[in-house]
Amino acid sequence: MPTIAIYAGSFDPITRGHEELARRSRTFVDELVVAVTTNSSKRPLFSIEERTALIEATLGDAPGISVRAFDGLLADFAKSIGASLIIRGLRAAGDFEYEFQMALMNRHLGPGIETVFMVPSVETTYISSSIVREVARYGGDLTGLVHPVVATAIRAKFDKA
Ligand code: PNS
Repeated sequence: MPTIAIYAGSFDPITRGHEELARRSRTFVDELVVAVTTNSSKRPLFSIEERTALIEATLGDAPGISVRAFDGLLADFAKSIGASLIIRGLRAAGDFEYEFQMALMNRHLGPGIETVFMVPSVETTYISSSIVREVARYGGDLTGLVHPVVATAIRAKFDKA
C-alpha cells in the first residue's frame, strides 16, 4: 500500500518555506497531496482557485506531489483519499499550542491518521504567508520568499487595491 500524506494549509499564498517542506516530505512518502482549504479564522487574500493555481505553478514539476482543494474537515478529506499522515510545519514555539490541539482533534476525528510535524530549513524558517503579504503590501522585494509566479500574482493584487 503506498503511503499517502496530506500537507494541509491555507497557503495564502504558498511560500518558499511551504515548497521546501513539501519537497522534503515527499522523500519519505509515496504520494504527497497538498490540500488547500479556507481556514475559518482567516480572511484570505487569494481565492481557493487562485491559491490552488499558485501551488501548481510552484510545485507542479515535482513527481509524486499533487494539489487538491477541499471543503469541510481535514480528517474527512484525509479518509476520503486514503491518507494516513497529515504533515504540518512547525516554525517556532508559538506555533505549538494551536498545532498540538489540531493534531489531537484530527486524531479524534480520524483515528489512525497521524500528524507529523516537520521543521523547516533554517533558510526559510522566518517566511510565512502573512509576512509575505505584509512585505508585498508595502512594495518590498519578494525574491527568495515565493516563486516568481506567486510574486507576480501578489503584486497584481496590491496594485489593484
Ligand atoms: O495554513 P493554516 O491556516 O494554518 O491551515 C489550517 C488548516 C486549513 C489546515 C485548518 O484550519 C483545517 O484543517 N481546516 C479544515 C477544517 C478542520 O478540519 N479543522 C481542524 C479541526 S481541529
